[in-house]
Amino acid sequence: MEWGMRNRMNRMINPETGRIVMLAVDHGYFQGPTTGLRELSKTIDPLLPHADTLMITRGMVRNCVDPSNRVPIMLRVSGGTSILGELSHEGLTTDMEDAIRINACGITLSIFVGAPGEKETLLNLGKLCNMGARYGIPVMAVTAVGREMARDARYLGLASRIAVELGAHMVKTYYCEDFEQVVKAAPVPIVIAGGKKIAEKDALEMAWKAVQAGAAGVDMGRNIFQSEDPVAMIKAVRGVVHDNLNPGQAYEMFQDLKGKGA
Ligand code: R5P
Repeated sequence: MEWGMRNRMNRMINPETGRIVMLAVDHGYFQGPTTGLRELSKTIDPLLPHADTLMITRGMVRNCVDPSNRVPIMLRVSGGTSILGELSHEGLTTDMEDAIRINACGITLSIFVGAPGEKETLLNLGKLCNMGARYGIPVMAVTAVGREMARDARYLGLASRIAVELGAHMVKTYYCEDFEQVVKAAPVPIVIAGGKKIAEKDALEMAWKAVQAGAAGVDMGRNIFQSEDPVAMIKAVRGVVHDNLNPGQAYEMFQDLKGKGA
């Protein structure tokens, strides 16, 4: 990996811990105004000081994040579908020059293995990795899961491995049973999405199990910004990811910080 790419990876993944807490707020690119993200700046301003990286689209970064902010940007560059249609036919929406203008630290797209859009999204991953290599910008593949697809080690392992084979520098997937099998077969930093909002205690436990199984951390959205106390939650997630707190300790931290304007 050449210097620029390594530097960008190190800006996102803390080189001291080898771990990352990425805050995902890109949901609007196909879901529109998601609960918690209707007024994006209001939600993310208090969270940004605690995020190692922010996953966002170009429209929202330009309109809702002050350029004086130093948080590294993982720019979502795929889309073209909505919750009203067939999600898997995503294309590339943002070219490399615009990603560079935004000073993106990484670029990301979804791949839909096993869905109607499998081939186009995998070929787009290949194209993006070629462009990333040209400019020294790492690519994160998101292993999207269609409505019918199982979230198990076999499927997520398949999708994650294909992503690495095609050149992805980082993979975002979901936590599942036997997650260490997914991690072992995909030799790049793996982060887990949080998925739908669940109880804070359960989300912290899921993050803990993922890092114990070898994940580099999380790329978490709804379980942070839809939490009853998002700042307390992101701090507790950091405790798990960077300080190896166990789920009980992290939940205690969340309870202690909750409601105190943490
Ligand atoms: C998925 O569509 C988006 O890329 C989100 O970034 C991703 O699902 C992570 O967010 P959450 O933790 O809410 O699942």
